[in-house]
Amino acid sequence: MKKRILSGMRPTGPLHIGHLVGALQNWVKLQDEYECRFMIADWHALMSEYEDPRDIEKYSIDMMIDWLSCGIDAEKSIVFVQSHIPQHLELAMMFSFLVPLGWLERNPTYKEQLREIKGRDITTYAFLGYPVLQAADIALYKANAVPVGADQLPHLELTREILRRFNALYKKELFPEPKALLTETPKLLGIDNRKMSKSYDNYIGLSENPDEIRKKVGAMITDPKRIRLKDKGHPKKCNVFSYYKSFATDEQVGEIEQWCKNALRGCTECKKIMADIIIEKLRPIREKRRWLEADLDGRVKQPLRENHKLASEEANNTIREAKGLLHVLKI
Ligand code: TRP
Ligand code: SF4
Repeated sequence: MKKRILSGMRPTGPLHIGHLVGALQNWVKLQDEYECRFMIADWHALMSEYEDPRDIEKYSIDMMIDWLSCGIDAEKSIVFVQSHIPQHLELAMMFSFLVPLGWLERNPTYKEQLREIKGRDITTYAFLGYPVLQAADIALYKANAVPVGADQLPHLELTREILRRFNALYKKELFPEPKALLTETPKLLGIDNRKMSKSYDNYIGLSENPDEIRKKVGAMITDPKRIRLKDKGHPKKCNVFSYYKSFATDEQVGEIEQWCKNALRGCTECKKIMADIIIEKLRPIREKRRWLEADLDGRVKQPLRENHKLASEEANNTIREAKGLLHVLKI
């Protein structure tokens, strides 16, 4: 029997090439090896966006369009919206009985976000419980593995602790302990060398057109020591070069490295080629998006409706089992 995977993303903004190389390409491959469940984590998005939730709906449907455009297949995998399956909240509540506050307060990701997230009040009950809902997401489908980036590892460790505690208290191995499937690709930085993020406006979006992409790649920071054409460059210190490693063939990477180190060609040309590579990479995605958008109801919403039924059935079964272990009255 195939092992099962669950992963999710928060619909808080447009998807960009960082999501593509950091997660989506990997998800697409995993679909053949595993039974996959991919979730649009709108409740998790609302934990930080609750003061102004107007864009959640748009970002959620755009996320589904982007996923399908990038090769997520709603026939192979179950793709659904977290808030459509009420059992996520139900299981999160059951877990909250047995999660000591200290586990949540000590969580390094939580402490970091309290320091870093500005302009939003996230000192809330729900935000502290973020990992409890995430544990419920994973447990509801009894996932064996979760593809995540390194930043999510503390959350996954908490999930394992919560599930272990549940299984131990109620003396049944109801929930498997999920393993992390770490994405190996290094994180793509934004065009200004900071973390690629909507809030820094330094990202290349999956739906941007060729002109926008050329402009953004043209504005990227290169090796600061390479000022004139005849200066020899240091590819390791250049963000454009790390893009080559993510998007170009090994042969192209080798060629650019020689150009740069030996000052054979300039940065402007190097960036032009990079822009073209990204444009070509995104072309089939752009075309698929156009096709999907031509019949949003049939090609995007209908698969969501069909997948919803499947997710719902699995979620119901798990809740029935968990309620049985908690001895709540059946009538
Ligand atoms: N916390 C994840 C993120 O910020 C999103 C998420 C929610 C998730 N539930 C999940 C990821 C369950 C993996 C498994 O990206
Ligand atoms: Fe970067 Fe290319 Fe310029 Fe080298 S030639 S510094 S890799 S942009």
